[in-house]
Amino acid sequence: MAQALSAPGPTERHDLDANDESLSLLLQWLAQYGNTFRVPSLTRPVDALVINDPDDIRRVLLTHRANYVKGAGLERVRMLVGNGLIVSEGEAWARQRHRMQPMFQGSANRAFAPMIQDLQADLVARWAVRAGSGEPIDLTRELSAVALEVVLRALFSVDFDRLVLAEGSNPFDFLAEESVRDLRFAARFRALGRFVRDIVDARRHEGRSEADWLSMLMHARDKGGEAPMAERALVDEALTLIIAGHETTASTLNWTWYLLSQHPQVQRELQAAVDAPSALPLAAESVPGETAAGSYVEQVLQEALRLYPPVWLFSRRAVGDDTLGGHPVPAGTDIFISPYLLHRSAAHWESPEAFVPERFAPGAAAGRHRFAYLPFSAGPRFCIGAGFAMAEMAMHLAMVARRFELQYCGTAPAEPEFHINLRTRHPVRMRLIART
Ligand code: HEM
Repeated sequence: MAQALSAPGPTERHDLDANDESLSLLLQWLAQYGNTFRVPSLTRPVDALVINDPDDIRRVLLTHRANYVKGAGLERVRMLVGNGLIVSEGEAWARQRHRMQPMFQGSANRAFAPMIQDLQADLVARWAVRAGSGEPIDLTRELSAVALEVVLRALFSVDFDRLVLAEGSNPFDFLAEESVRDLRFAARFRALGRFVRDIVDARRHEGRSEADWLSMLMHARDKGGEAPMAERALVDEALTLIIAGHETTASTLNWTWYLLSQHPQVQRELQAAVDAPSALPLAAESVPGETAAGSYVEQVLQEALRLYPPVWLFSRRAVGDDTLGGHPVPAGTDIFISPYLLHRSAAHWESPEAFVPERFAPGAAAGRHRFAYLPFSAGPRFCIGAGFAMAEMAMHLAMVARRFELQYCGTAPAEPEFHINLRTRHPVRMRLIART
């Protein structure tokens, strides 16, 4: 006889998804039923199980991963990225991950450092003018625009400028400007695949290769060394990198600056850390995410990712029966994991609501469960862009903190919005104070 999902939980039916309502219900049920609870489904064929115990999470993401595939809520992502790396499964996923892994190795990331540094230098120059005028900036929008340009330049390099020239403006701009992620957005986004195809065709026609992600995708080979990626897969992966790499980093930096503005002492400490000549070599050959491992810049980012993990909820589906938290889990069950809940658990974090970057100082994590901190997930489906993202964000933070203090202009605290990414509900406005 098939086993039943017997964990405690509400009788109320609800389909968990990445939205504000699910977050408030999750908080309520976590307080009521503890770390493992069942949520009767409203429209899905099987009930869901929420797990918030790091041992169970390790089982699902690592030790018993063969029993779990990606789960509910993926339809929305599939509409955007087709069968790209975030959503693909089994053999297709393994082949693509193997092909794409070299694109995100240290040396590949390092090659993008000058480009990222130039973009941050432009941003600093623009902000210097704004600081002089005393007029606040829309930080959220500024960070979104620069994060988008970073991924587009990493993907298309010289063809990015050609595209903007040919089209009269950047056709990808609306990604940074529009915050609604509805069907209309998905259709508009998929249509951008045409530009990827055009650039691929042009490069093939001209026999041209560039030092960017697109050429790496075009030349990537599977284990046998033979098969290149089909055009459809090329487009799906290019769009995946844009979606996965843009809003996540923009959102993290937006929250990081907000937190720094609310904790002037931490902001001063960050300034002292980046001012020290030995702290962060910003030369083109350096990747702060690597060279500054354990630095205060990195600690600040890790702490911001703890409090506001952009990917605040994700899911898996059990392929066969299993047991989690001592409860039988029948095949087909949707499993939900929330880094947001986990990162604020008093069982693993002292004063979990407080912003304390020193938690991530070298040696400070001793005794902490490795699966109590998952901003980039874990196991084989760990974020492929984590190293790139940390390097990009560290470079931004160091270059900006050297030049400016940021003061929050809002009258109310910034409110989180729990959608596909954990963003601020309203744009964050900041006053820039030039540092002497
Ligand atoms: C602060 C920045 C970022 C955060 C917090 C983040 C977070 C995550 C998380 C949690 C997952 C796993 C989801 C799951 O297991 O279901 C993931 C997967 C992924 N991320 Fe990131 N990400 C970030 C930046 C990036 C960047 C910059 C890129 C590439 C340009 C990227 C590309 C991907 C891809 C392709 C996957 C799917 C990997 C696979 O399934 O094999 N991410 N990311």
